[in-house]
Amino acid sequence: MTERPDIVQYRADFPILAAQMHGKPLAFLDSGASAQKPRAVIEAMNRIYESGYSNIHRGLYEISQNLTEDFESVRSKVAAFIGAPSDKNIVFTRNATEAVNLVAQSWGAAHLQEGDEIILTEMEHHANIVPWQLLRDKTGIVIKTVPFDERGVLDLEEYESLLSHKTKLISLVHVSNALGTINPVNKIIKIARDFYPEIKVLIDGSQGVVHMPVDVQAMDADFYVFTGHKLYGPTGIGVLYGKTEALESMPPYQGGGDMIERVAFEETTYKEPPYRFEAGTPAIVEVIGLGAAIDYVSQIGMADIAAHEKALLTYGTEKLRAISGLTMHGTAPNKAGIMSFTIEGLHISDIGMILDQCGVAVRTGHHCCMPLMARLGVEGTVRASLGLYSNRNDIDQLVEGLEKAKDLLS
Ligand SMILES: Cc1ncc(COP(=O)(O)O)c(C=O)c1O
Repeated sequence: MTERPDIVQYRADFPILAAQMHGKPLAFLDSGASAQKPRAVIEAMNRIYESGYSNIHRGLYEISQNLTEDFESVRSKVAAFIGAPSDKNIVFTRNATEAVNLVAQSWGAAHLQEGDEIILTEMEHHANIVPWQLLRDKTGIVIKTVPFDERGVLDLEEYESLLSHKTKLISLVHVSNALGTINPVNKIIKIARDFYPEIKVLIDGSQGVVHMPVDVQAMDADFYVFTGHKLYGPTGIGVLYGKTEALESMPPYQGGGDMIERVAFEETTYKEPPYRFEAGTPAIVEVIGLGAAIDYVSQIGMADIAAHEKALLTYGTEKLRAISGLTMHGTAPNKAGIMSFTIEGLHISDIGMILDQCGVAVRTGHHCCMPLMARLGVEGTVRASLGLYSNRNDIDQLVEGLEKAKDLLS
């Protein structure tokens, strides 16, 4: 199995990957936490700051009008990228976390009452747990969870048995950031629809959109959320996709400028979605950066990125499995480029520190998935996560570092 040369060439587009860490080539294997940025994104943002910056939606002057147009064109770009019917289905948020909070506090508070049930899974990121707990504390809703097996595969029989006439929402992760499992979201949504068509489904696509092509209409999700910084874009910008009917049924989430039609002390009226949910000055330049990131990955092709990462995942998994004492957490048959593991007798933080000395950047800890770690019976894992620029050298450097950690620590 060889690496696709047409994908490997894109590594040069990421200036930071030429850097060294502790005198070693940087093997960046923490894209699951945040991806590195290609020159195209950095330059698109710099261009705005240097020659096209102003506030948007307000100014009558040329720079403001041009930037407003560019900003709004990114909404259409995001819609096309995830297969949404219209730019009106795309709400800009600060990140995926804010998108889930928006749905919980706006849709949830308007539609859920004491005793209503929502279903999450045991592999959720805290971003898809805590917002629902906050809502539970206010409204008295009940949270149920779908377990997963020893491979990290959701138990769909158990899921079906949790559905009841009280179920109002299912909210689950597309790709687990801690296990790599690609959940069968189309099937999960269909099961919900067959049970009761009115059940809403939110998909946390933070790790989904970065690893594969996504079509929210084919999936039939009511809500799909993701975060720009894992998609090679900047921090500070996220996306909430919502079906028209769902967004129209939601009251504003925050109040302020830009989201109103008319304000008077007696009564205020609000804009239509998505603008109703975007109070205050938005992350203007970050939206432009997200647009550049989407152009960048689209020109490579999400299917090609997925194929490249899959081949590298197979290579990395084989290499890691050959290390004695290593346990891989997350061995689902359908996985994205995330390898989570522990090594018998070695503390994960010690492994992380030695890998750092070897130029290898990985994440160690619970990866914001404490309930998942409790289910695995571990405090945390070492996680190596791939991006479109990852290559075999990164994996080889990781394996060398792990052998060194074993020598030094055992
Ligand atoms: C699966 C998943 N959901 C949600 C998030 C939260 O993303 P953000 O912190 O950008 O809101 C992450 C980030 O690690 C994630 O991996």
